[in-house]
Amino acid sequence: MRFLHAFGDAMTTHPAGSDESLSLWIDTTPSTNYPALSGDVDADVAIVGAGITGITAAWLLSKAGQSVVLVDKGRIAMSETGHTTAHIVATTDADYREMIKVHGEEGARTDTEAIRSAVELIRSLVSELAIDCGFKAVDGYLYTENEEDREYLLRQHEDLRRAGMESEWVDRVPLPFPTIGGLRYRNQYVFHVRQYLLPIAEATVKNGARIFENTLIHDVQNAEKDGFCVVKSEEGSIRARHVLLATHVPINDRGTIWAKMHATRTYVVAAPIQPGQVTDALFWDTAYPYHYTRLLDTGKSLFLIVGGEDRDVGKEENDEERYQTLEDYCRSRFGVTTFSHRWSGQINEPADMLPFIGESSHGKNVWMSTGYSGTGMTYGTLSGMLLADFALERENRFAKLYDPARKNLGSILENVVTKAIEFPKRMIEKVTHLDVEAKSVAEVGEGEGKIVSTGGAKYAVARIDGELRTVDPTCTHMGCTVAWNSAEKSWDCPCHGSRFNTRGEVLNGPATAPLKQAEIGPSE
Ligand SMILES: Cc1cc2nc3c(=O)[nH]c(=O)nc-3n(C[C@H](O)[C@H](O)[C@H](O)COP(=O)(O)OP(=O)(O)OC[C@H]3O[C@@H](n4cnc5c(N)ncnc54)[C@H](O)[C@@H]3O)c2cc1C
Ligand code: FES
Repeated sequence: MRFLHAFGDAMTTHPAGSDESLSLWIDTTPSTNYPALSGDVDADVAIVGAGITGITAAWLLSKAGQSVVLVDKGRIAMSETGHTTAHIVATTDADYREMIKVHGEEGARTDTEAIRSAVELIRSLVSELAIDCGFKAVDGYLYTENEEDREYLLRQHEDLRRAGMESEWVDRVPLPFPTIGGLRYRNQYVFHVRQYLLPIAEATVKNGARIFENTLIHDVQNAEKDGFCVVKSEEGSIRARHVLLATHVPINDRGTIWAKMHATRTYVVAAPIQPGQVTDALFWDTAYPYHYTRLLDTGKSLFLIVGGEDRDVGKEENDEERYQTLEDYCRSRFGVTTFSHRWSGQINEPADMLPFIGESSHGKNVWMSTGYSGTGMTYGTLSGMLLADFALERENRFAKLYDPARKNLGSILENVVTKAIEFPKRMIEKVTHLDVEAKSVAEVGEGEGKIVSTGGAKYAVARIDGELRTVDPTCTHMGCTVAWNSAEKSWDCPCHGSRFNTRGEVLNGPATAPLKQAEIGPSE
């Protein structure tokens, strides 16, 4: 199924990383066309991953006079950044009572300050480079439709104040359906994320940086041996003093980071609306799973963008239902009838509510960032700032708070452990074949994917446009069995969130190697 995007805005149609979804950001901006890396190059800093994190770091480093090489396995700003909803919010998604319990008032305040500095960088870049990306201030509302959540909101109001963030209680939230009330945050922001990042990438190149697309890095070596790190793709390599892994999740990482966060998938639908139909603001509710809402004015059309219906990656089959539920929500709350776009993406939830930004498990001079939760516009920007400082060997006063090796995870470890047991559970299923869904390929219908067990072996089999596509279901990160994602038509790993298309190619890390090809006869 192809979604209609015939509202006069679409400039180019892009492959969005899956067979089915197309985000508004990607649909309303031109495609980039940087070359692939070929041969061996040297740089001061190699940045792997060109989302908001990598592009921000590349800009800052190129401005500081460093020679920078930025590579991406696909096109720039297409992955999670191209599938965001781009609310720029001065807080996190966290329950601030918990945040203060784990990090103390001082930690929570430092985090608020750090987020503020990221918003400030976005604002200054928009101004410095005169970027026309619809960046503007709007009010944000955390609201509820449930009487039971009123108390939570009042508590959050108090805890946000302790964390250095002002909010105010409002009885009337400007939504076209009844609410119990909510908190208003003044001066939050919105922008068009690709209209923001593509000019920054161009300006970075003008500063002398080199950008390579369609370059998958599969090997990362630290600077232990001779003071230089090396990252390698099939076609070339980059030798640099520092490597920044801005890959959303650290690639090739088999360290403990996986026990400290878990991956969820979140879904978005967009619908054309009339001016005045919905107030131009940011809205987040307290439902579970929750909803997040904003508008996008492209100059030609106005869109309502609603996200939510989050679920843990690779754990349920009914992804299609998530979109249907979201559309039903939009129909009943906003009275929209036609949907123009839909897309989904991945979020990494850190167990202690703060991202991990610092030295990677690869060792000397290899830095990484991950775990932005649903606030990666700010944390991605902040990570770009911190990673740039690490590469410049410069102190950063926020570094300690986000150190991946921080020790204050103790009190919330039950939360992580519950999630982390998915790994051993899936490993047991792998051995016992409990995850098998079919005994023959005949049981795999058109547009479906199933784990098929036949002849003593297991296969991930998908039937797309009549063609049978078969791969080994063993995730190339740490060996869990992948599961079918019916909405995106992809194989998703429930352990740490890697995703693969039906031909086995990597869509999302931490895996960097494709699923092995496998052969199975049509009558097996
Ligand atoms: C549906 C959705 C809604 C969201 N809404 C919001 C929101 O409203 N506000 C907010 O603040 N945040 C939001 N987020 C979160 C935010 O979009 C992300 O946290 C952020 O974009 C992540 O940026 P990134 O640069 O870390 O990752 P990415 O944009 O994923 O960039 C990482 C890049 O690394 C590349 N890469 C990975 N592995 C390799 C490799 N081996 N070799 C080479 N390149 C590689 C990828 O191709 C990718 O381009 C949302 C996320 C989703 C999915
Ligand atoms: S085993 Fe880690 S992502 Fe699959």
